[in-house]
Amino acid sequence: MKTLFYSALVSACLLPCVMAAPAASKARVADAAPAKALPASGDPALGREKADSERCMECHGVDGHGAGHANGPEGKFAKLAGQHPDYLLKQIRDFRSGARQHDQMQIMARSVSDADVRDIAAYFASQPGMKGQDGERHALGKSLYESGDPARGIAACIGCHGALGKGVAGSALTPVIGGQEWRYLDKQLRDWRSGERRNSPDGAMSQITKTLSDAEIEALANYLSGI
Ligand code: HEC
Ligand code: HEC
Repeated sequence: MKTLFYSALVSACLLPCVMAAPAASKARVADAAPAKALPASGDPALGREKADSERCMECHGVDGHGAGHANGPEGKFAKLAGQHPDYLLKQIRDFRSGARQHDQMQIMARSVSDADVRDIAAYFASQPGMKGQDGERHALGKSLYESGDPARGIAACIGCHGALGKGVAGSALTPVIGGQEWRYLDKQLRDWRSGERRNSPDGAMSQITKTLSDAEIEALANYLSGI
């Protein structure tokens, strides 16, 4: 029900919102380095300035731990602290191309260059990682996370997302999800199940969420946000 309502909202807004997206025309930091090939990793100090001037901090928090998530529907801001920079850059590119849809983020993604995002991602990655609020840890969520449900073809999350959702070495495109904001996690899992989000490289996340019930999604979001 909630999902249907949300998708309707998003599709109703999609065309006008995309068309309303401003051309990338924001003032650049005056003393930015001259244009050159995109470095493999960004500059966290420059990234901090850009995350501020490009307004990322308004929603994602100064330290990448989210902002204002106690209030209403805007509790769905992702935490970016300690997240893999390559994963963040991929998401921005996906928002920009429309492979991942979200009104606000598609507009934001089009207002920054890849070089800006490298710096911003380096800054957020350098911040103390996301960690769970002490809360209940849901047993159903833990069991699905660690063992999946082979009978339904649900692979164990831990195989890709690592112990406690902290990611696995050498897998820079698989996000850290342990300690992430629960409303955000809940929304992503529902979006994948409904097909609203479908930018997972080989369709893995779409496949895995297909048969999850609402209760299982809530249990996973609850468990993951608490670790
Ligand atoms: C008006 C609020 C707002 C602003 C400003 C904003 N974001 Fe976001 N951002 C969001 C929301 C909401 C989401 C979750 C989208 C969804 O539900 O799929 C998000 C998601 C993201 C994600 C995906 C995270 C993940 O774990 O997949 C990245 C990366 C991101 N934002 C980066 C940025 C950057 C970089 C900036 C500044 C250039 C920025 N955002 C500015 C609201 C905002
Ligand atoms: C085969 C590997 C694999 C398995 C198994 C897997 N994931 Fe993922 N997951 C990924 C990848 C890769 C992404 C990033 C997709 C993208 O590029 O947008 C992702 C993204 C996510 C995200 C979005 C995070 C964000 O910041 O937006 C959530 C939440 C998530 N997975 C939860 C789960 C849960 C819960 C399970 C188990 C039920 C699971 N995953 C199993 C590979 C996997």
